[in-house]
Amino acid sequence: MTRTTRIDDLPLRDELRGKSPYGAPQLDVPVRLNTNENPYPLPEELVRRIAERVSDAARGLNRYPDRDAVGLRTALAGYLTETTGHRVGPTQVWAANGSNEILQQLLQAFGGPGRTALGFDPSYSMHALIARGTGTGWISGGRDAHDFTIDEPAAVDFITEQRPDVLFICSPNNPTGTAVAPETVRALYDAAQAAAKGRHGALVVVDEAYAEFSHRPSLLPMIEGRPNLVISRTMSKAFGAAGLRLGYLAADPALVDAVQLVRLPYHLSAVTQATAHAALEFSQTLLGYVEELKSERDRLVRELRAMDLEVTDSDANFVQFGRFADPHAFWEKVLEHGVLIRDNGVPGRLRVSVGTRAENDTFLDAVRAALKDTHEAAPESEERP
Ligand SMILES: Cc1ncc(COP(=O)(O)O)c(C=O)c1O
Repeated sequence: MTRTTRIDDLPLRDELRGKSPYGAPQLDVPVRLNTNENPYPLPEELVRRIAERVSDAARGLNRYPDRDAVGLRTALAGYLTETTGHRVGPTQVWAANGSNEILQQLLQAFGGPGRTALGFDPSYSMHALIARGTGTGWISGGRDAHDFTIDEPAAVDFITEQRPDVLFICSPNNPTGTAVAPETVRALYDAAQAAAKGRHGALVVVDEAYAEFSHRPSLLPMIEGRPNLVISRTMSKAFGAAGLRLGYLAADPALVDAVQLVRLPYHLSAVTQATAHAALEFSQTLLGYVEELKSERDRLVRELRAMDLEVTDSDANFVQFGRFADPHAFWEKVLEHGVLIRDNGVPGRLRVSVGTRAENDTFLDAVRAALKDTHEAAPESEERP
């Protein structure tokens, strides 16, 4: 159909005018290390198990799926209990199409017009975008400019002053890789409750999309006795199933009841539920790949530091490095050498997702070549903020 109008001429909500949709470039490049995907395809036995489970589900596709995904939530609760040592049941777990949908449902239920959400930038930019999409005001707090940690006393003061309705803590944080200490999460949770405008406190969302890659244990046990704390997780990273679109949360059962007020009925298809179930049966195998990726991540950190680059400590399946006078020019140079990485707009920095050993070698060679081409070098020393 030919276009008869432009987006600006539509009766669009004012806050969406002039904005662009989220998304990294999808370029056809030999080595793609830009979206924090798991580089390993699913093992063949799992592919066969998915086919079996999906065939079973296909026989019942004339019916709507299990609306509350109780079977899948039970399996997810089992996975969380097994891997964190903290017992959770299906009433404490909720699932959706990717953790982005989990975050959207949380903001639909706890954010919205007249309410605000606060996060510590640079962080996962979808937090702010989902806030915008749900009519929630966004408040941007900062991080230490050197190591990208959250400065706890400064963050407590900022929360006390801003009084957000929803607080985002991303740990490990995307794009920096930084994990947040449990004592800091406790302090920020308490500050958010004390500062909240309403008498029911504020929602605190811990985004643990990369938890399985961390040196630190999951913050999941902290949901005990903290009814306003929610842990968001995904099968996109550690499970190597970004294409599946399956995210989940763990929280007090009352919070799970609350998100059900805003979810669309039958939001998780029977095919998605069957596939996720099959992947959970293989969690031990998939977590084996995570161990390999963690050691490759640590190798990337060492090798980049050996090139005199400044590398942020990483607890995730990606590494932030710099500093470059012109990060975008450096990003382009690395691309010319056949490797797609990410320019998240963090001053002086770029981010690379951990790939297979061979992909990482290609990336490291590309960085060496790009350093030569651009004469970029990390500064000898830098001023601390
Ligand atoms: C911190 C963080 N949270 C959530 C997501 C969303 O993941 P998904 O919707 O695939 O579960 C991502 C994806 O990159 C992420 O980096």
